[in-house]
Amino acid sequence: MNDPNQPLSSVEQNPLASLDVWEDDLLERYPDPESIAQGKATEEYRNYETPGRDSVKEFYRLNHTYQTYDFVQGKKAEFLAFNKKEMSVWDAFQFLNQLVDDSDPDTDLDQFQHLLQTSEAIRADGHPDWMVLAGLFHDMGKVLCLFGEPQWAVVGDTFPVGCAWSDKIVYPEYFANNSDAGVERYQTKYGVYSHGCGLRNVDLSWGHDEYVYHMLKDYLPEPALYMLRYHSFYSQHREQAYDHLMDDHDREMFQWVKLFNPYDLYSKNPVAPDWKELKPYYEGLVKKYLPERIKF
Ligand SMILES: [Fe+2]
Ligand SMILES: [Fe+2]
Repeated sequence: MNDPNQPLSSVEQNPLASLDVWEDDLLERYPDPESIAQGKATEEYRNYETPGRDSVKEFYRLNHTYQTYDFVQGKKAEFLAFNKKEMSVWDAFQFLNQLVDDSDPDTDLDQFQHLLQTSEAIRADGHPDWMVLAGLFHDMGKVLCLFGEPQWAVVGDTFPVGCAWSDKIVYPEYFANNSDAGVERYQTKYGVYSHGCGLRNVDLSWGHDEYVYHMLKDYLPEPALYMLRYHSFYSQHREQAYDHLMDDHDREMFQWVKLFNPYDLYSKNPVAPDWKELKPYYEGLVKKYLPERIKF
């Protein structure tokens, strides 16, 4: 156990062998109902043993210890200035792919392949093209890792800060280490918020969701933006733990977040889509909605 007041080394900050270990763990918590129906064990998703699980626990320990209200405000100020880098959309995918993952036994696919498989699964089901685009971009915020951010500040289930933590959040016991535990006004049900204030007024823990939402917020229709912003907010979209902060508009938009989630979780396939064949479609789609260059 580290003392929460001591600086952490890079290895300590990044316990997961890769970001995908977190996503594999999500599959264990929320297995694909279809593969259960077909009698496939979730075991098939991962055939490596407990080290993954231990590193996930350590990951959440760090995440829950250090994601404080003030931490979130600081990261918003730092990254929502978008003054780090500017790239064309396609260079951005190449940049994201520098996040290599050699540990995932499920798929040998890179970040872009996960995005493409998500967007292709959405497209195959005939959903609107802006939802396909949301699929293609939803994890672009993981470039935060390439700016030196630790894993616990990039991925992991997100949750509101500035109010009481729900015990529906995974590993809630680790919040005992969070310095906000000692701040009385953050420890009531509503904290700094009010009943039904709407999620746009609520700060969630910082990570790739919030970052990509701000990156694209001027370009995509609102349901797509909800998908980007809340796709890791499992304690709400799967557990309904924060209904009291939502307004009617959030409730309407969360239908889209829920529609999106299975495409993110269950579209992984070891067979890579044929990018050459798909490229013209995606180039057209990107042109339709997005500017030439994106700011990071
Ligand atoms: Fe994600
Ligand atoms: Fe994803």
